Amino acid sequence: MTTQATAAQSGTFNIGNFTINRLGYGAMRITGRGIFGPPADREGCLETLKRLPELDVNFIDTADSYGPDVSEELINEALHPYEGMLIATKAGLTRPGPDRWAPNGMPDYLIGQARGSLKRLGLSQIGLWQLHRIDPRVPRGDQFAAVKAMLDEGIIANAGLSEVSIEEIEAAREVFPVATVQNRYNLVDRQSEEVLKYCEKEGIGFIPWFPLAAGNLAKPGGVLEEVAKRHEATPGQIALAWVLKRSPVMLPIPGTSKVAHLEENVAAAEIELSDDDFAALDAAGRKG
Ligand SMILES: NC(=O)c1ccc[n+]([C@@H]2O[C@H](COP(=O)([O-])OP(=O)(O)OC[C@H]3O[C@@H](n4cnc5c(N)ncnc54)[C@H](OP(=O)(O)O)[C@@H]3O)[C@@H](O)[C@H]2O)c1
Repeated sequence: MTTQATAAQSGTFNIGNFTINRLGYGAMRITGRGIFGPPADREGCLETLKRLPELDVNFIDTADSYGPDVSEELINEALHPYEGMLIATKAGLTRPGPDRWAPNGMPDYLIGQARGSLKRLGLSQIGLWQLHRIDPRVPRGDQFAAVKAMLDEGIIANAGLSEVSIEEIEAAREVFPVATVQNRYNLVDRQSEEVLKYCEKEGIGFIPWFPLAAGNLAKPGGVLEEVAKRHEATPGQIALAWVLKRSPVMLPIPGTSKVAHLEENVAAAEIELSDDDFAALDAAGRKG
């Protein structure tokens, strides 16, 4: 295992006209405590972002609400004009304070936030925009119509959903083409297994957030340790290698604010799990 492995080894996936390397990066962690305000180590976060293209990571996930604004602004500062990169963002959650998230799916709000993301990211079109949550207080058809309006106007090139059921994906697909679905998923959290299977069948990108269970899967002593030792890898790398092998539509976005963690996570792309390892981890993960 070397830190020279790059995300190119994870294989590619197409989202509209973008071809991305499947192992991406989640930019939620480059913010302050409670995903609120600026990060404690701003320079370290900028350095982490600048390392992404060197490691062939060309798919970044962010949101208007990370900070809020902070994540998108740092991405712009570090990486604009994003040559060959797909910057995916989201809206639909407001931030009353640290660790607090409140949905707002009013169509005008969603469209206004997407326009704000364009400015903060310095883009004329958002390559992938995701509805962060379907707001239960607003008719979902209105929220889907807002997404369709943004696609029609060209503010956004592709659209996705987050934390949705198959029924909700199908309802949205009546209104606009759903390019991606972003649901919580990792080796030990398999509630979205059926949604993943649906995405695989339909060729929809599946973006598992929390792929390291917020670092818990990166800790020694868990179900991953034995396989990790054999591969001379870390448990977190095995967790990422497992999700990558799970499906060709899987687009993991491990989040970190540290260059060393980024390099370690990206190196997971070169790990080839045997079918036996995969099955053993699968069984252990399902047990919890
Ligand atoms: N759609 C949604 O509702 C939703 C919700 C949450 C997140 N997301 C997206 O998903 C991305 C990933 O989710 P996540 O950040 O919550 O969880 P994650 O990627 O599973 O874990 C990130 C955490 O693990 C730590 N970590 C990362 N790499 C590590 C390593 N190699 N060794 C040890 N610790 C490591 C990070 O801390 P350090 O900074 O110290 O490395 C961070 O605290 C986010 O960035 C965001 O883009 C989406």
